Parts: sequence; C-alpha cells; structure tokens
Amino acid sequence: MPESPQQHAAKLAAAQAALHFVQPGMVVGLGSGTTATLFIQLLGERVQQGLQVQGIASSDSSEQLSRSLSISITNFEKHRTIDVAVDGADEVAPGLALIKGGGGKLLREKIVASASKRFIIVADDTKLVRQLGRFPLPVEVIRMAEPLVTERLRVLGFTPVIRQAKDGSGPYITDEGNLLLDCHSDGIADPAKTAADIRAIVGVVEHGLFLGMAERVLLAGADGVREITADERW
Ligand code: 5RP
Repeated sequence: MPESPQQHAAKLAAAQAALHFVQPGMVVGLGSGTTATLFIQLLGERVQQGLQVQGIASSDSSEQLSRSLSISITNFEKHRTIDVAVDGADEVAPGLALIKGGGGKLLREKIVASASKRFIIVADDTKLVRQLGRFPLPVEVIRMAEPLVTERLRVLGFTPVIRQAKDGSGPYITDEGNLLLDCHSDGIADPAKTAADIRAIVGVVEHGLFLGMAERVLLAGADGVREITADERW
C-alpha cells in the first residue's frame, strides 16, 4: 500500500529526532527501509556539513546510499561495537517487542542491532500494536531446507509463504543468498517462546522477532514525535 503524505511526514519527523542521538566520532548503525533511508539521507546532510561519523550498514542498498552521501563506511573487522544504530520496524508491541524484515534485511539488521550499545527505532504510529503478528513474521531460511522449515513452521501454527521479488523474477533472495518465508498467523501471543521455537528449526538462518533489543522507539504521528521505552504499556 503506498504511504500517505501524513505517514511520510511522520517517518521524516522520527528520522529527524533520531539525529539527536548521533555525536561526532560515533560508529552509527544504518538500518534499512523507508524510515531508515530518511535517517541516512539526513545523516548524509550532516556529514556534508562537517559531521564526522562512520557507518555500518544493514543492507547493500543502505551501504550504497550511505557511500553516495559521503558517509564513510566501516565494518566489524575495524569496530566490534556500534555506538548507536537507527532502524525502522514493521510492528512495535509492548516491551518494545518488534517485528522487522518487511524490507527483507532482517539478518544483517539483527547483527547490527546485536552489536549496538543503543538501538533506536524510528517509526510512524501505524506500527504500534498491542500484540505482534498481524504483519507476517519474516523468517530467513537456507534454500534447500525451505520445504522442511515450512512444514515445521506450519506445526507451530504459521502459514508460511515464500516471498517473491517485486520485479516478478522469482523468489526474493536476501543479501546473504537465502529465501524469506513470510509467516502469517492469528497473532503471536508469546513472542519469546515463538522466537525460541523458530530458532530451534534447522535451516532457519534468522527470524524477524527483535526482542529485548530496542532501547527506545521514536514514534511519530499527528501530534509529533514521542519516545517510548520498554516499561511503557498500551
Ligand atoms: C527492513 C525492515 C524495515 O526497517 C521495516 O520493514 C520498516 O520499514 P519502513 O520504514 O519502510 O516502514 O525491517 O527489513
């Protein structure tokens, strides 16, 4: 569904708010998706005005965009930790339990998040939910294992669908050469158990449940940007 001008403005406001968390000299985790892209563009403007930071990108596309904006790119060979990472989310539930991977980049996004001292989510308020799972949970799988993983996910109550490339060329292939299964469900009542159950399936590379990772969410809507932390309930 194309986004409304209001949703775009909200994403931009959240991305702008995230700039406050970036200080000179930092290593910054660069997320993927439309909201993270707005953040990268704003960061690029700051870099062109003289801000010195280095970035570690969560996707090939974010890396290319960052380089085109003169953001210098580093890696985990040179830096084992990221000072602050900024990324989007597909759903945000209480406890800052997230679904990510709508853009297909969840594996590197989770690697970047796991190496970050601060993991900040930027999102518009359509992403806020009481329970995860209306958005299909993306699960990245090794290609040859897909039929086996699909069967196991069905036993867990999901209806997995192999994601297709937008250009109609066949299955979507991740930056790491794997398939993505978009797992439909009636809702994920116990995200921690679901995460553990999916992780136990051989052939699963990673899943899009990000639990206990986000420090805060910068959530933008008609009334501006508000910060949500893990102890808030809604
Ligand atoms: C990509 C992601 C994105 O962060 C997520 O899909 C949100 O994207 P957008 O900001 O375009 O709504 O997880 O894998």
